[in-house]
Amino acid sequence: MPHRPYIVGNWKMNGLRAAMSEARSIDRGAQRHPGVRVGIAPPFTLVHAMAETGQNLFVGGQDCHAQPSGAFTGEVSAPMLKDAGAVFVIVGHSERRAMHGESDAMVQAKADAAIAAGLDVIVCVGETEAERDAGRAEAVVDAQLEGSLPRGEGDAARVTVAYEPVWAIGTGRVPSVDDVAAMHAAIRAHLLAIYGDGGAAVRILYGGSVNAGNANELLAVAEVGGALVGGASLTADSFLQIVAAAGPAED
Ligand code: PGA
Repeated sequence: MPHRPYIVGNWKMNGLRAAMSEARSIDRGAQRHPGVRVGIAPPFTLVHAMAETGQNLFVGGQDCHAQPSGAFTGEVSAPMLKDAGAVFVIVGHSERRAMHGESDAMVQAKADAAIAAGLDVIVCVGETEAERDAGRAEAVVDAQLEGSLPRGEGDAARVTVAYEPVWAIGTGRVPSVDDVAAMHAAIRAHLLAIYGDGGAAVRILYGGSVNAGNANELLAVAEVGGALVGGASLTADSFLQIVAAAGPAED
């Protein structure tokens, strides 16, 4: 593993201000695991509050627009996220790709915008069940990496890749350890091809139904540098169990 493991919670469209108590508990818990990098991407409405409160948390957005400002009603730009205290943004989540028609080119433009604004970026990739059944999982992920990753000088240092098979998200189903290992090895090879030596240090997270019960096994897979966690990140209790699976507590 190139760095300390990175466990990121994606709260999706969940979390009223009352959920800040969970964030504070996660923040306190994260302090006990200094060997783990802990992030949360709350809804936009909580980014600023969480960034102000969190001492041990990296706070990020779940998406950003490719333009820094303009007549784009309802959108949030990368400089706005940065201004609110975010340090990273997730781009290309499969829910954005599927429900908002985001293409690889759009995802890449968002990643470029994020890096230009001084944010780190988590680029999500992953195949559908039909694509896996057709034996095309690696080809699909390869094409997504090719089209979605930012290509600027030095960008490798700002990028994390999240491999999230679409059929594993929110379903309780996870790929076999062998399938995760094979996909992460393929992603690493692609990162080396794109970024050269810089590609060796890019974290590759696994995402899709990660929970306290399977985190140990998934985090032990070669080239799995952490996890992107949806449902199980919403309470401190379940999320901190995943953090604990990534690194021991120090008192
Ligand atoms: P899940 O979501 O952990 O609820 O499956 C993961 C994600 O969509 O990032």
